[in-house]
Amino acid sequence: MAAAVSAAVSLPSSQSTSLPARTSIISPERVNFNKVSLYYRNVSSASSAKVAPIRAQVTTEAPAKKEKISKKQEEGVIVNKYKPKEPYIGKCLLNTKITGDDAPGETWHMVFGTEGEVPYREGQSIGIIPDGLDKNGKPHKLRLYSIASSALGDLGDSKTVSLCVKRLVYTNDQGEIVKGVCSNFLCDLKPGADVKITGPVGKEMLMPKDPNANVIMLATGTGIAPFRSFLWKMFFEKYDDYKFNGLAWLFLGVPTSSSLLYKDEFEKMKNKSPDNFRVDYAVSREQTNAQGEKMYIQTRMAEYAEELWELLKKDNTYVYMCGLKGMEKGIDDIMVSLAARDGIDWVEYKRQLKKGEQWNVEVY
Ligand SMILES: Cc1cc2nc3c(=O)[nH]c(=O)nc-3n(C[C@H](O)[C@H](O)[C@H](O)COP(=O)(O)OP(=O)(O)OC[C@H]3O[C@@H](n4cnc5c(N)ncnc54)[C@H](O)[C@@H]3O)c2cc1C
Ligand SMILES: NC(=O)c1ccc[n+]([C@@H]2O[C@H](COP(=O)([O-])OP(=O)(O)OC[C@H]3O[C@@H](n4cnc5c(N)ncnc54)[C@H](OP(=O)(O)O)[C@@H]3O)[C@@H](O)[C@H]2O)c1
Repeated sequence: MAAAVSAAVSLPSSQSTSLPARTSIISPERVNFNKVSLYYRNVSSASSAKVAPIRAQVTTEAPAKKEKISKKQEEGVIVNKYKPKEPYIGKCLLNTKITGDDAPGETWHMVFGTEGEVPYREGQSIGIIPDGLDKNGKPHKLRLYSIASSALGDLGDSKTVSLCVKRLVYTNDQGEIVKGVCSNFLCDLKPGADVKITGPVGKEMLMPKDPNANVIMLATGTGIAPFRSFLWKMFFEKYDDYKFNGLAWLFLGVPTSSSLLYKDEFEKMKNKSPDNFRVDYAVSREQTNAQGEKMYIQTRMAEYAEELWELLKKDNTYVYMCGLKGMEKGIDDIMVSLAARDGIDWVEYKRQLKKGEQWNVEVY
């Protein structure tokens, strides 16, 4: 059964471009994915992966190794359908800047048409091979990007994949301005342009199966991408076989309020599901804590230390972390002190959480 799309979502932007023929619902000034006035889109279970019945085999030989059953939505996940030698050629449908003009750096949200040929799950990534040749005259290598849309995609038809990309620009030791190859290729893509896609890849960041789980999401900057995809599935979509009724708690760290990503969408989710969704921002260059320290994501988390620690002691709590590599140590540091209050060694505790798929990290 076809999915009825009705997520009321907008991506306000100062610069945005879209492909009119393919995405007539999207206005160039205010990208809007509205199709009907409700906040839901319905997905019949027919569209979800079928479970094949498994018959037990009786044997007198050595006992079969017990197969580990993942607590994540891993069944039927596809990886590496498209390899670098034969990438899928997608089409850019829309590319829009989602940070303010005064933000330090630019982040863009882009939607690629896939005709449903790149099936992916929330939490996976895709590879992009930028056009052109490297300094040795060889084709560029692929770069990975976390998928920012739910499996249904921003248009709700399972025929698109979206990314959230920061344009990399830095000054090298010689004082020259250097532009990152792939991020600039992507941020400059115009609607209608072809884009070489590989993958999908990754299982670390797949969502928990348990619809009543506590899901704590820790993001810096574009590390928000996988969590936007989780949260659309949890709060903007309706499935016969999945209804999120746990607690989704997002912490997002950005430099300035003009760099807050997808804030309007998160506000809509909070209004719609106040008992199931919490969001806390850490705006590092505008906010400080009571001690006057810079407000990093871990600084904001420290304000909820007791509550977070109590949640972490529960079997149905899952933590996901995505973004800058540096955040991992910062978050570990606060966890060490929280665990120590209960006489628990955080390193060992985290090892157990990781083993139970409750501590999931993808930082770069
Ligand atoms: C699993 C995964 C998911 C990712 N998801 C995303 C995502 O969702 N969004 C996103 O924007 N990015 C994401 N990335 C990062 C992305 O893959 C690219 O690395 C990033 O876009 C930069 O690529 P580029 O081609 O623009 O830069 P390149 O041309 O590859 O240049 C990068 C190189 O420039 C150098 N460099 C960078 N900054 C500086 C500096 N300040 N000073 C000196 N040298 C510097 C370093 O040598 C670095 O390796 C992800 C990475 C991984 C591994
Ligand atoms: N799956 C992945 O591996 C994955 C997915 C998506 C993105 N990424 C990568 O994640 C990075 C995100 O960068 P961005 O440019 O999008 O982010 P950004 O907009 O610059 O925001 C990053 C925020 O994190 C803060 N920060 C810096 N150091 C920190 C630390 N040690 N602990 C906690 N917070 C810290 C920054 O503060 P200040 O700047 O004020 O210091 C800023 O507020 C990029 O390198 C991107 O390539 C990786």
